[in-house]
Amino acid sequence: KMKADIEKAKAMKDEDKLYRHQGTLYVSIMSPLENLQALETLEARPDDVLLVAYPKCGFNWMIGMLQKMMIAAGLEKDPKQTPLMEFLSPEMQKVISESPSPRLLGTHLHLKNIPASFTAKKTKMLVVFRNPKDTAVSYYHFTNKNAVLPKAESWDKFYSEFMSGDVAWGSYFDQALAWAKHVDDPNVMIVTYEYLKQNLVEGVRQVCKFFNFALSEEQIQTIAQGSTFEAMKDNSKDSHGQLGNVFFRKGEVGDWKNHFSEAQSKEMDAKYEKCLGGTKLAALLKY
Ligand code: A3P
Repeated sequence: KMKADIEKAKAMKDEDKLYRHQGTLYVSIMSPLENLQALETLEARPDDVLLVAYPKCGFNWMIGMLQKMMIAAGLEKDPKQTPLMEFLSPEMQKVISESPSPRLLGTHLHLKNIPASFTAKKTKMLVVFRNPKDTAVSYYHFTNKNAVLPKAESWDKFYSEFMSGDVAWGSYFDQALAWAKHVDDPNVMIVTYEYLKQNLVEGVRQVCKFFNFALSEEQIQTIAQGSTFEAMKDNSKDSHGQLGNVFFRKGEVGDWKNHFSEAQSKEMDAKYEKCLGGTKLAALLKY
């Protein structure tokens, strides 16, 4: 399916690759409107494992770790890719609605667009964030290398689009602000890319604890070892096919310094401070 989608995307004009729905841009091929509309009625379960991350904040890193954790805990027999829920056609959503618990699900959607029953059922949500500057740089490279997204004309142009939220899945700042109000919710765990880079073993341990995955210390260590950037990049042909190198690009903190001008850096700091200053999320995401 992914191969077919990429071929289809190559034949499309850049301006058709995104469409706007309720003010937010989405990827035409991967999440057409019928997917989003069907999602509104997706029934959450209290024992679903839901991963939420704005694009390029480390979704593939964490979903890979969650798969390993669930396999080690005996909860998931089949190592497979977990597509974003908004990539599921209405028919695929029906398959998911009948699949056994616990289900591993993921999304890049803004909190307000996550199917309402996840909040109603108090389903546990693991939310990964990354500092906005590295997120923007990662997104810039991704949009240039992934055929389903439009090419950025230049870094400066992409930077402006990121700042105004005119990128697929909308504004980083809007999404962060929505989560900033839920940092202390018992069913929400927020973890940052930067924290994981420095404390991978502890990160795995905390995620296991949050979801009540009963893993031994040895299993935790093994998962962390298999989840370094190098290990995941080496395995990326198997896990992500021809997009392997695109999803596992550099894997570092601070690459923004190679892209941002002084003025862009100051402007983003000011926007960050205005949106998130003083919140617990901002403290978690110090960069
Ligand atoms: P870079 O483009 O900065 O390298 P997502 O999965 O949400 O699309 O995020 C992709 C980003 O996460 C990419 O950032 C990618 O390299 C990075 N990444 C993926 N796996 C990683 C890992 N195991 N350790 C560190 N970074 C990782």
